[in-house]
Amino acid sequence: MQLIHTVAELRARLASEKAVAFVPTMGNLHEGHIELVRLARSRGSCVVVSIFVNPLQFGPNEDFDKYPRTLEADCEKLQGLADVVFAPAVTDMYPEQQTLFVEPPPIASELCGEFRPGHFRGVATVVLKLFNQVQPQVAVFGKKDYQQLAIIRSMVTQFNLPILIVGAETTRAADGLALSSRNQYLSAEERTEAAFLSQILSGMGETLKGGAVGYVAREREAAAALAKRGWQVEYVSVRKQADLGVPGEAERRLVILVAARLGKTRLIDNIEVCL
Ligand code: PAF
Repeated sequence: MQLIHTVAELRARLASEKAVAFVPTMGNLHEGHIELVRLARSRGSCVVVSIFVNPLQFGPNEDFDKYPRTLEADCEKLQGLADVVFAPAVTDMYPEQQTLFVEPPPIASELCGEFRPGHFRGVATVVLKLFNQVQPQVAVFGKKDYQQLAIIRSMVTQFNLPILIVGAETTRAADGLALSSRNQYLSAEERTEAAFLSQILSGMGETLKGGAVGYVAREREAAAALAKRGWQVEYVSVRKQADLGVPGEAERRLVILVAARLGKTRLIDNIEVCL
């Protein structure tokens, strides 16, 4: 496995590769990331993992400064799994002040976008830059960031990028909590409570499969159940898998998405429901 820091070195290393499978990350790798890398390995002959904490996708009061940076440990985890780890410096990623951006679609202002203005513009911009730098044939993203995945898929389609986007299932702890680098911000007590987030989604999923309609009422019930246990709920929302639009009653392929804070930690999760 080769650790590369500059775009020039990356281009030289990948020049003769024909089947690059790419996993973009912000590092602090856990088993969820490793699953993405394994999936990438099954999709390409050269696996590239990028590690870059992207300032453009963090709001002024978010955790950019305290986001865990653990490059050495990450590289150890990737030994034997990735061929290249690309860890550019901020000055390499943004050689001049970024004044051109990918303007994401209107859905980027809903759900997480409502609470993190500008977040998906920062994500789409850095992912486009990473795609230009790595020039992969395949790129793997986790379904845990469902809205991000949907926006990246649209970007690839609308900008005619020759990249196959693969969505990977969410990796969960034994109690159901979706793995996330931010889980480490939780206190022991909060970590126990955090499992409730996936439980409420599974329960709601079963209710919908049982024929319940009136999604707004179901969303309110779930939000109230979370709030009662001390969560600060940003949203619980039933959407269409296809485009994250609000579903009509005839829609069969749904996804339930949630974002809520436990203490100072913001957690997101989702579950796909096929009726
Ligand atoms: O999902 C992430 O870790 C980030 O949003 C990504 C895709 C690496 C862009 O910075």
